Amino acid sequence: GRPRDLAGHKIVISAGGTREAIDPVRFIGNRSSGLQGYALARTAVARGAEVTLVAANVSLPDPAGAAVVRVGSTAELREAVLAASEKADAVVMAAAVADFRPASRHESKIKKTDGEPDPIHLTKNPDILAELGRLRREAGAGPRVIVGFAAETDDVLANGQAKLARKGCDLLVVNQVGEGLAFGTPDNAATVLVAGGEPVEVPRGPKDDVADAVWDLVAPRLS
Ligand code: C5P
Repeated sequence: GRPRDLAGHKIVISAGGTREAIDPVRFIGNRSSGLQGYALARTAVARGAEVTLVAANVSLPDPAGAAVVRVGSTAELREAVLAASEKADAVVMAAAVADFRPASRHESKIKKTDGEPDPIHLTKNPDILAELGRLRREAGAGPRVIVGFAAETDDVLANGQAKLARKGCDLLVVNQVGEGLAFGTPDNAATVLVAGGEPVEVPRGPKDDVADAVWDLVAPRLS
């Protein structure tokens, strides 16, 4: 059985991938299934946490015992995460958040025309993880433990450490992307970068095992 080492702690977890509307029927999205975020929610509940799961476009059943808030866009995910984070002890940003969105959303469906199609102009989305880190640093507000995820293919340690510092989080779970790993698969493998500490390797295994390895690092930072 699992330890009840998250009992008494409020934890916010984001999962899935955000979608940005182009027009009423089209969007820009990504391939995140939400499986890793849901594994985090399930295992956190099993370890005694009070979990709020902010799910972006996930087609999985609600995990038992978690409060689920369903969102679509990055703006909606941001609102839900920031609101839930006010009272949270830890936040884990496992969602794949769109870095850009169309600068304007067409009110009606874009029609096929004879000439060249109009370009879609993009604008930057806010970085929610960095915002949480900044809030904590500048206002002393928000969660005690902040965890980010990152998919890196090369220079994992150097790129990851830079990202950890830039975003102001405590742990950065760097997924190995590749054959049968990460997006939409049951398995994952990761290196967890630790602010002010040594990286922890999580061997390839079910996403629940990767989730438990994350909680093993979060729990001591909460007490
Ligand atoms: O910069 P990058 O997208 O690689 O960072 C990934 C991490 O940052 C994830 O934890 C993701 O949830 C978070 N993120 C965010 N807001 C964004 C982009 C990413 O919170 N706009």
